[in-house]
Amino acid sequence: MNKRPQHSSLASFPALRMRRLRRTDWSRRLVAQTRLSVDDLIWAIILKDGQNVKEPVASMPGVYRLSPDETVKAAEEARALGIPALALFPYTDAEGRTPGGEEALNPDNVMCRAARAIKQQVPEIGLMADVALDPYTDHGHDGLMKDGEILNDETVEILVKQSVVQAEAGFDIIAPSDMMDGRVGAIRKGLDEAGHSHVQIMAYAAKYASAFYGPYRDAIGSSGVLKGDKRTYQMDPANSDEALREVALDLAEGADSVMVKPGLPYLDIVRRVKDEFGAPTFVFQVSGEYAQIKAAAQNGWLDGDKAMMESLLAFKRAGADGIITYFAADAARKL
Ligand code: PBG
Repeated sequence: MNKRPQHSSLASFPALRMRRLRRTDWSRRLVAQTRLSVDDLIWAIILKDGQNVKEPVASMPGVYRLSPDETVKAAEEARALGIPALALFPYTDAEGRTPGGEEALNPDNVMCRAARAIKQQVPEIGLMADVALDPYTDHGHDGLMKDGEILNDETVEILVKQSVVQAEAGFDIIAPSDMMDGRVGAIRKGLDEAGHSHVQIMAYAAKYASAFYGPYRDAIGSSGVLKGDKRTYQMDPANSDEALREVALDLAEGADSVMVKPGLPYLDIVRRVKDEFGAPTFVFQVSGEYAQIKAAAQNGWLDGDKAMMESLLAFKRAGADGIITYFAADAARKL
């Protein structure tokens, strides 16, 4: 926690003029407390099967569904810009979805093919895989569903297999986003037993049941299929202490880093998590946050670039070590 200023020891006006330090650019730069760097960015990318596919996502202007060959180009761009890592998310059409989400375990699914292609051409870039079943289930939930319930332990068994499949394809960071209990420990064990002790786990530790995921569900083909909502496994936006318990559990189970999601509406959680645990803490600026800024900018209501940079800086100020964002390439170009 930042030290509180000792108000009694401060000079007062007119000796103290707060605007003195703000007067010039050189002075503002000297006293700036927080910096955003390209090293803080993880670029969120949506995949789609095929060749030469670059299909716009209607609700996320500037974001495209990319086929594996196109993601290689994105990875090359990221390398040129200095972006350390990419986070991949797969689109699946309704026909490709099943009740059990079996495609998650296919070593030749679009995630794995993209990972292999990127690792072949751009081996120095970090690759993060989202672990959950929602891109592959016909009901759009992150786990198996039985009689309207999302099954926990049965889902965890599949997530472990999904993680191993992803690690084998070349992913460096396994990022479970499903919010099942006990999955981090199970995945760590599964990865280690399969010989992937060097593969990291970034836990979506404090993930809220949020309206801000709307455009993402559109992007991965889930919005039409999702039955009900995710409130029996994702967190209630009313809660803050619960986030600390979730983070404590995931760290105890072996998470290398933790994530808070969404971002801007949950900066208080980022700050609490960072202060309490001091672990590498990431924040996901989710699809709805991206869409809000883009839509307002398209209408001429906001300066889109400035709003983007301000929102990213806010995450750093709140204590985040890094940010998963669809803006990564745009922001990197400005840095
Ligand atoms: C689901 C998942 C979601 C996101 C990443 N992984 C959405 C959800 O929980 O429904 C959201 C990403 C975004 O909105 O940008 N496993």
